[in-house]
Amino acid sequence: MHVKASAPGKAILFGEHAVVYGKPAIAMAISKRSCVEVLEGSTTNINVNIKDLGIRGCIDFNSGAIISDSPKKGILKYILESIKKVHDGSGIDINIDVNIPIGGGLGSSAAVTVATIAAVSAYNEIDLKEEEIAKYAHEVELVVQKSASPLDTTISTYGGLIYLEANAEDIVQLDIDYDIPVVIGYTDTRGDTGKLVEAVRIRRDIYPNIINPVIDSIELITEEAKQAILENDKKRVGELMNINHGLLDAIGVNTKELSSMVYTARNAGACGSKITGAGGGGSIIAYCPGGTANVISAINETENALKADISKEGVKITTLY
Ligand code: MEV
Repeated sequence: MHVKASAPGKAILFGEHAVVYGKPAIAMAISKRSCVEVLEGSTTNINVNIKDLGIRGCIDFNSGAIISDSPKKGILKYILESIKKVHDGSGIDINIDVNIPIGGGLGSSAAVTVATIAAVSAYNEIDLKEEEIAKYAHEVELVVQKSASPLDTTISTYGGLIYLEANAEDIVQLDIDYDIPVVIGYTDTRGDTGKLVEAVRIRRDIYPNIINPVIDSIELITEEAKQAILENDKKRVGELMNINHGLLDAIGVNTKELSSMVYTARNAGACGSKITGAGGGGSIIAYCPGGTANVISAINETENALKADISKEGVKITTLY
């Protein structure tokens, strides 16, 4: 059996961090996808080769030991926890291309987790529904990151533009018949999602009367933004992004590099811009209904930017033989 699966990364438009406390968020799948290939084992072990990051490792399924001399071997924890869900421990070779900057706020760990669960389950002829893939992938993120909302794994599984209410039964695809032109700018700094979520939690425990209203305000922004997106009210979407950015700064996940890029984007004509993802490094998202070219070239003067389109396609499995 030879199976390939891929899953998209994501950009959060509204509501990161607040979503951890059951508040809604809006995110879009982007066209950058992580790809996972599973083949019969060349040995009796589980061998993992993350080609684009130059990481090789071997997973001892029974003890849970990860053997690798790569300093970036932490990502192999996601692979171990993913295969535990759908594999019996027999030898397999897993080849991965992450294709999404790690710690860049663009959902690389969720995309790798979703694609791994999809590929290994298909290899074992287990026919998982999308909701099962999303559920398992969220459980994996909870084990590895300690605290995670279902947002990243949901968007990576289903694709599209999603309004997610963490406690609701159903996810809501925002079906819009127009483009949302956004630019993603990458700083070359990285954030650790688990640590950032924990830092916000500690700040909230110390200052509940201050941080809880901030989280409630992010919820109000996300709800208003949902309406503004459905009505294609560009000015309101941009302003709400800017306010959301200010509140992410208030809860302590902004950095000098992110802040500088947010203002570079606004000065170059973005209608709104904010941190996207956990912050602490990583990426910004700029909303550019007036055109993306100026914003891309302004960011590219010092860092890197790309135009991101909403990717309708979620997880995809191809069985080769
Ligand atoms: C990370 O992409 C988004 C956060 O809200 C964490 C989460 O939802 O698990 C910061």
